[in-house]
Formats: sequence, structure tokens, C-alpha cells
Amino acid sequence: MTISDDTWAALRALAIEAMDRAYAPYSKFPVGAAALVDDGRTVSGCNVENAGYGVTLCAECGLVSELVRSGGGRLVAFTCVGAGGQVLVPCGRCRQLLWEHGGPELLVELPSGVHPMTEVLPEAFGPQDLQVGARA
Ligand code: THU
Repeated sequence: MTISDDTWAALRALAIEAMDRAYAPYSKFPVGAAALVDDGRTVSGCNVENAGYGVTLCAECGLVSELVRSGGGRLVAFTCVGAGGQVLVPCGRCRQLLWEHGGPELLVELPSGVHPMTEVLPEAFGPQDLQVGARA
């Protein structure tokens, strides 16, 4: 699937809007994430921190929650930005979230360019692996 430059720009704009609403009083590192869904919807999220630092929700958590709440589907293009609107890399845990809801073909914008999930999370653990290793 090809994503136009205009679509990437629109996703970055949506991510910046989300980042502006982040709750990040502890790290002072607001993050906004936005994605295109396979039915044409867009979803977004921002990080929400907590005084119990480990309880922090990454921007991708909010995005995935909105995806599911608004009807599900598969993520096809994803970006996330920091305070200056600069494109960020998603953390390891969030790469796993993106794999679950985007699969191998999800296109992820990184500072180095657009990459498929197979490059962002090589040899990912997914639903099929649960069947392989399950106890009878
Ligand atoms: N953060 C995200 O929201 N997403 C990521 O993929 C990387 C990290 C947030 C979590 C925390 O609120 C802040 O960035 C600093 O780690």
C-alpha cells in the first residue's frame, strides 16, 4: 500500500494536536501518535503519565484504545512526534502493540524514513506463536 505525502503530513498534524494535550508533568516529554486505519479512519493518542512512574501510558496505548473503541480494524500507517513536532521512534513495548494491531504490513514513519513493521520489529512475537507453544 502506498501512503501519499499529504496523508503522512495529515497524520503528523494529528499527532502534533495529540501531543499538545499530553499529560507529561514528570518527564516533560510530551508525545503524540496518529495512525490511519484500513477503513480510512484516523486515530490518535498522547502519553499520560502518573506519579507512580511505571504506570505511565505511552501515546500508542491511547491510540490503540481509540482504535478498538471506535470499531477496530487494522492500522496501516503510523507516526509519533515529540514536543517540536519531530518524528520519534516508538519504544519497544509500543512496537509490540503496533504489531498486534497493524501486523507486518503496517508502515511506520521513523526519523530515518518509512519502514514496514517487519523492519521495526523483526521476528516479532504474535498471535500465531501462542498456538505453537501452547500446552495441550
Ligand atoms: N513515550 C511514549 O508515549 N511513546 C513512546 O513510544 C516512547 C515514550 C512517553 C512515555 C513517557 O511519558 C515519556 O515518553 C518519556 O519516556
